[in-house]
Amino acid sequence: MPTKIEQRNSKIHGQGVFATAPIRKGETVVEYKGKLRTHDEVDEEYGDQDNGHTFLFILNDTYVIDANIRGNVARWINHGCAPNCQAFVIGDESGDPRKDKVVIEAMRNIAKGEELTYDYDIHIEGPITAQERKLWACRCGAPNCTGSMLKVDKPAKRKAKAS
Ligand SMILES: C[S@@+](CC[C@H](N)C(=O)[O-])C[C@H]1O[C@@H](n2cnc3c(N)ncnc32)[C@H](O)[C@@H]1O
Ligand SMILES: [Zn+2]
Repeated sequence: MPTKIEQRNSKIHGQGVFATAPIRKGETVVEYKGKLRTHDEVDEEYGDQDNGHTFLFILNDTYVIDANIRGNVARWINHGCAPNCQAFVIGDESGDPRKDKVVIEAMRNIAKGEELTYDYDIHIEGPITAQERKLWACRCGAPNCTGSMLKVDKPAKRKAKAS
């Protein structure tokens, strides 16, 4: 399948991925590739490097795709609050979590020259610090931009103890 995307400078952030030909709604654009690693391996290597930059994609409960190693063009796709693409985890029929994969699919028709984005869907338990807010600021430029790449979940309410 000839590729319809390329990596180049983005107005959103650093490098981005752009359509080099029209892409139809529902079309699979690219697979997100990289080294398959366990959560523990990734945590050990990158730890709490809370620097607001990530080339990691959570594949399932056991594995993460580390696109720092053997990553392809998909790793340059930026986050958008009004995305034109969606990332899916495709579970392998065998049930082997090592064989699951991530594909990026067009959510609508995409014109040649448009930047591809998907919702990173990064959840964090609130409240977030001013530093986190700054690190994860969103610059997607969409009219409905939330201003953050993070989705802040409220911490679970503690049950009041019966007296
Ligand atoms: C997977 S990289 C995407 C490629 C990135 N543009 C680059 O040049 O390295 C993800 C990082 O890009 C930046 N990024 C992606 N989407 C963004 C957005 N909407 N606003 C601001 N920064 C963004 C953040 O630093 C994020 O952690
Ligand atoms: Zn945004």
